[in-house]
Amino acid sequence: MTEPLSYFDYAASTPVDPAVIAQMQVALADLYANVSSNHSAAQPVRQAEQLAREQVASLVGAVAESILWTSGATESNNLAIFGVCDFYRRRGNHLICSATEHSSVLTPMRQLEKDGYELTVLTPDSEGLVQPEQLQEALREETILVSIHHANNETGVLQDIPALAERLRGTSTLLHVDAAQSAGKTAISVDELGCDLLSLSAHKMYGPKGIGALYIRRKPRVQLTPLFYGGGQQQALRPGTLPTHQIIGFGRAADIANQQMVSEQEQLWQFHRALLAGINSFQLNGHSHQRLPGIINLSHTDSQYDPVKELTSFALANGAACNSSQPGPSHVLRAMGRDASNAAHALRISFGRFTTKDEIHRLGTALSQL
Ligand SMILES: Cc1ncc(COP(=O)(O)O)c(C=O)c1O
Repeated sequence: MTEPLSYFDYAASTPVDPAVIAQMQVALADLYANVSSNHSAAQPVRQAEQLAREQVASLVGAVAESILWTSGATESNNLAIFGVCDFYRRRGNHLICSATEHSSVLTPMRQLEKDGYELTVLTPDSEGLVQPEQLQEALREETILVSIHHANNETGVLQDIPALAERLRGTSTLLHVDAAQSAGKTAISVDELGCDLLSLSAHKMYGPKGIGALYIRRKPRVQLTPLFYGGGQQQALRPGTLPTHQIIGFGRAADIANQQMVSEQEQLWQFHRALLAGINSFQLNGHSHQRLPGIINLSHTDSQYDPVKELTSFALANGAACNSSQPGPSHVLRAMGRDASNAAHALRISFGRFTTKDEIHRLGTALSQL
């Protein structure tokens, strides 16, 4: 009998929490009025949307008015980067990001470089961390934006955002943080991080796909040029009829994460330690403790060997799912100094809320035999 497939690809997308599904079903069935309409049928939709805005804002220690709904972190990242560059173009033409950003940050940055901006890409150390001194050295008077992610989607490594933000203090350079992987997994406060813009995605935290948010600091106010033009929704910064069933699902997911984060992380660290305890032929990529527990990136001692091809009863990845149409060595591991073969055959194991002890035990046993 073939074993059921165990899902170990939470970093690509998490299962949707049943409580989120239930809330979305109610929203789809009952809250169908357009949230922007003036009649009374829109009233409960507006209330539900406002609650979701508060729930998502609360997850990152922000006020509800600073949350802008988008279609996901890709759009949030694009809006933050292009929006800042266009609005503040008179301030300067220099941008900074790290080499291990998600493609939805790196590609807009490269596009702006083609359009005449100067771009500095910071190389992290071998453990995946960008050092504050590197940022300090790269910073210029004409640097308008720094974009550094919080948790890496391939390694789980967490950047020390407050220490990086400290280097920008007293300058007019804005800081954007892609928190798609960390939100809902580790406590976030936009004030403690010291960021001006922060990207979020619902489907990385047990919510639905196709909905995300961009936190935009209000004091002092950060201005953006829109990516799209249309009606006046969301102060015309991101027009379009709001997908309220998805927003309500995202809000519920944020609320659950807020309540369960501490106990969940404790459990995931136990799983993390259990998986690493039994492996002999693998090396962990990324910092051993400045990280999320639910993403483990491993390289086999034989760098030609592809463990993903062996572990067919587990849904696993070599790297980011969004890069699977352009297979090749992971740009994240290459930037951390791994050779091309190592970076092409890494094993990303990611797990979360619905992973069971039994699944961890099965995967641990399988890994120990490779
Ligand atoms: C770090 C990071 N940023 C951005 C994204 C894009 O998110 P979305 O799928 O919501 O567009 C992802 C998803 O893979 C991610 O892991």
